[in-house]
Amino acid sequence: MNFCAIDFGTSNSAIAIEADAGMRLVPLEGGPQGEHLTMPTAVFYCTDTDDLPASALPGPGGDDTLPRCFGRAAVQAYIDGYEGRLMRSMKSVLGTALVDQTTEVGNGHGVRYLDIVTGYLRHLRAQAEKAGGRPLSQVVLGRPVYFVDDEPDRDAAAQASLEAAARAVGFADIAFQFEPIAAAFDFEQQCEREEHVLVADIGGGTSDFSVVRVGPERAQRLERRDDILANHGIHIAGTDFDRHLSLARIMPMLGLGSFGPSVLGQPPRPVPSRVYFDLTTWHLINTVYQPARVAELRNMVDFYGDPVHHRRLMKVVSERLGHALVGRAETAKIAVAEGGSTDIDLGLIEAGLHNGLSAEQADQALRADLERIVACARDTVKQAGLQPDQLGALYFTGGSTGLALLTDALQAAFPTARAVRGDRLASVSTGLGLYAKRLFTA
Ligand SMILES: Nc1ncnc2c1ncn2[C@@H]1O[C@H](COP(=O)(O)OP(=O)(O)OP(=O)(O)O)[C@@H](O)[C@H]1O
Ligand SMILES: [Mg+2]
Repeated sequence: MNFCAIDFGTSNSAIAIEADAGMRLVPLEGGPQGEHLTMPTAVFYCTDTDDLPASALPGPGGDDTLPRCFGRAAVQAYIDGYEGRLMRSMKSVLGTALVDQTTEVGNGHGVRYLDIVTGYLRHLRAQAEKAGGRPLSQVVLGRPVYFVDDEPDRDAAAQASLEAAARAVGFADIAFQFEPIAAAFDFEQQCEREEHVLVADIGGGTSDFSVVRVGPERAQRLERRDDILANHGIHIAGTDFDRHLSLARIMPMLGLGSFGPSVLGQPPRPVPSRVYFDLTTWHLINTVYQPARVAELRNMVDFYGDPVHHRRLMKVVSERLGHALVGRAETAKIAVAEGGSTDIDLGLIEAGLHNGLSAEQADQALRADLERIVACARDTVKQAGLQPDQLGALYFTGGSTGLALLTDALQAAFPTARAVRGDRLASVSTGLGLYAKRLFTA
């Protein structure tokens, strides 16, 4: 009864508790008009306590007293211009040196990255305890196949950090399950015969694959180790797509790929590109706003052949538009996924500024990412000891499987497998819930 399951995602999170015969996802945001069962993995720390958004909640106390907003409310507080700092993609910090470091959130306040994760998990648990009307002490946490690619020590450290955060929140009994295995358990609920499924869970931070033997009879067993034939993953997913689309279609408007003036007959030099990479990477954006960096960028005007580019860049830096631009790239990606082509409105940089994004341009910008993801899927099947035609089904979950470019490429690699689409945002949390129930009621 006191158990739950948490999908702590790079972009979105959810929590499941026991209900009647099964498990249910807890409403995390929204009112009677519409409840949201998943919530952006976002926290907004408010640094001006005299002017707080209505959604701000008090900090838990101790060293962690700043009021904060979570999820959609966090993003909204940021958009509404409240003083403070928006934190996203916190999961990407697990397994890096940043996790124990303190980051400045404004007005001289600092927050340790791991405490941001802890605070977010505490909020999820509180929502679930309120919804279920009982305390929760046992949890299954999902984890990607690799928090960190090719570095087992850092990967283990990442899981240990997440476990420490869960313990700090008050969970006494903590278990982990791979996210794509959880998705396989969700798929298995609709499975009519025994078969091999390749689960493709393509989220914000990671693309995770598992080959699992599923079937109505096997679903009854708790011990499934023999049914898990392979797990594999790669750190390329939705946030990389956003970055690459921005580098292809937004950053060139600020000078990326352009050249400096021709001096004394020398061939013009390309504009230094580092700032554009930093401006498109969530956890590096704030480094561009540091006063010394701003001064350095301001002094680089002579590197630009077209002063308009430098002017736009300085506008983005001085008005701290980096996160908003990443948001524009993400919106454009989803528009292309849903409609084929779109126009990216960059009026926040300069009145009337915009750039198109067609399906072909998106394909070109994402081609290298997609190829690496497909290669990872093929490797997973190989590691399972199967030929591609031995797969019965290909199960798609994770927000990024909204991109037809991606699912088409995966389907083409396994043409005989039947493609099944799961609930893009809730499949992993539902499956983690099924697993938690088996584990904690066994
Ligand atoms: N319709 C869509 N088409 C393409 N991508 C989409 C669509 N909707 C959402 N996304 C992308 O899906 C990603 C989030 O997916 P999801 O919520 O599954 O990730 P996550 O579970 O938080 O991340 P991870 O599992 O990697 O930790 C974001 O990058 C978002 O931009
Ligand atoms: Mg996920």
